[in-house]
Amino acid sequence: MQRQERAPLWEALVAHVRHGYAAFHVPGHKGGRGAPPELGAAWGRPVFKYDLTELPGLDNLHAPAGAVRAAQELAAELYGARATFFLVGGTTAGLVAAVLAATRPGQRILLPRHAHRSLLAATILADLEPVFYPVEVDKEWGLPGGWDETAVEALIRQTPGAAALVLVHPTYHGLVGPARELIAAAQAAGLTVIADEAHGPHFYLHPELPPGALTLGADLAAQSTHKLLGSLTQSSWLHLGGGRVPAAAVAEALRWVESSSPSYLLLASLDLARRQAARNGRAAWQRALELARMVRSGAARLPGLACLEAAGWPGVTGQDLCKLTVRVSGLGLTGREAACYLRRAHGIQAELADLRTVLFVLTPADGEKDGERLLTALAALARERRGEKARVGELPELPRPVQRLRPRAAAFAPKAYLPWRAARGRVAARAVVPYPPGVPLAWPGEELTPEVLAAGEALQAAGTELHGLTPGEGGEPLVAVVEE
Ligand SMILES: Cc1ncc(COP(=O)(O)O)c(C=O)c1O
Repeated sequence: MQRQERAPLWEALVAHVRHGYAAFHVPGHKGGRGAPPELGAAWGRPVFKYDLTELPGLDNLHAPAGAVRAAQELAAELYGARATFFLVGGTTAGLVAAVLAATRPGQRILLPRHAHRSLLAATILADLEPVFYPVEVDKEWGLPGGWDETAVEALIRQTPGAAALVLVHPTYHGLVGPARELIAAAQAAGLTVIADEAHGPHFYLHPELPPGALTLGADLAAQSTHKLLGSLTQSSWLHLGGGRVPAAAVAEALRWVESSSPSYLLLASLDLARRQAARNGRAAWQRALELARMVRSGAARLPGLACLEAAGWPGVTGQDLCKLTVRVSGLGLTGREAACYLRRAHGIQAELADLRTVLFVLTPADGEKDGERLLTALAALARERRGEKARVGELPELPRPVQRLRPRAAAFAPKAYLPWRAARGRVAARAVVPYPPGVPLAWPGEELTPEVLAAGEALQAAGTELHGLTPGEGGEPLVAVVEE
């Protein structure tokens, strides 16, 4: 742990700034002198001095040999990874690069149906054929959870020639499925396992959080450090676990997708977030878990509110308790209405809200007062907004996709834009995703069958928003299809 006390990238940056070089290099604001005065007034001048990119002594993100390399090695050591890559394009960049490194054009990739849009981008860029495994959507909550282990393992056996499998661990709402078994089954069939661990960088820091994907054997795991740990927004890291994918292939793919002028504000924040996690991650997450339990038990006692408990959810084996999902439909409100009330009347900004639920994220940065403030606001919500009639419809089953083209061919094809009903039998050129449940109705290349169209109408009648439609001239939503 002594080594973990170091912060080589941060130290190199501080040494550079202290030296006070006359800056005849980019960025153009030159330590803040040329920055818009409003930014200086709001952010303070010092931050601009640290807003640097690659310079002598600061190493090179895309060919690290000095401070960046040392900082990445310390992160790898903390996470038990073979190598760690700092990311300045979020987990989005990490997942795209992981897929590009692990596959060749034309190969198949197994994806959960609720895969993040970065995986759609990766599938298009790498020209892959997606094979989806279904995720279980809980009817009462309208949220995706885990998967049916036996069904996914059978699908792996029936999908010869697949190169990789992607695992979401955990979901946005903090739910995890039987990952250990899935990783083992996929690797036994020769697949590289990529974990979308955007919401799980803290899993490695406390034993009461679910086990991390790397610990469970994943080959690659991309984590949004900025979401749960202390680093700046857009800073993430990608860990390399087993030996299936060469580190050089990952580094090459990252050169394809990331900036050649990486922000040292982001990189230094990663280095320090790693040190912070190594120093007191366990104690910090202990406090966060205690606070989350306190808020959870208080919220669960409020009439009309329910807190998501993973026990008994189909295909779910664990839960991050620091993600507090509160169902408000018992009050006769939608999640969005409740979130709006909390924001307007109590100054509380939730992470996410949908038809039935509101999601609150608790981290070590929250204290008892924050927890009490949230509980007071939830109590007021339950008191003041009770007794109205519930207006949320049942979410229909999502039909099985029928793939007619690879996503790349559909995404690059000439497109026509049609009203929903007129698109029957046509091939989608863009993804159409209802929120909730955030599980796509169609990916590019899939047929808009009568079942898909009917499900889209039922989803809208139930109050969900269909993302991926384009407004026509009169404002009516149109669906992009491949021109025939
Ligand atoms: C499940 C999941 N994967 C990946 C991402 C992308 O992460 P980032 O915002 O760090 O690019 C997100 C972002 O919200 C996400 O929810």
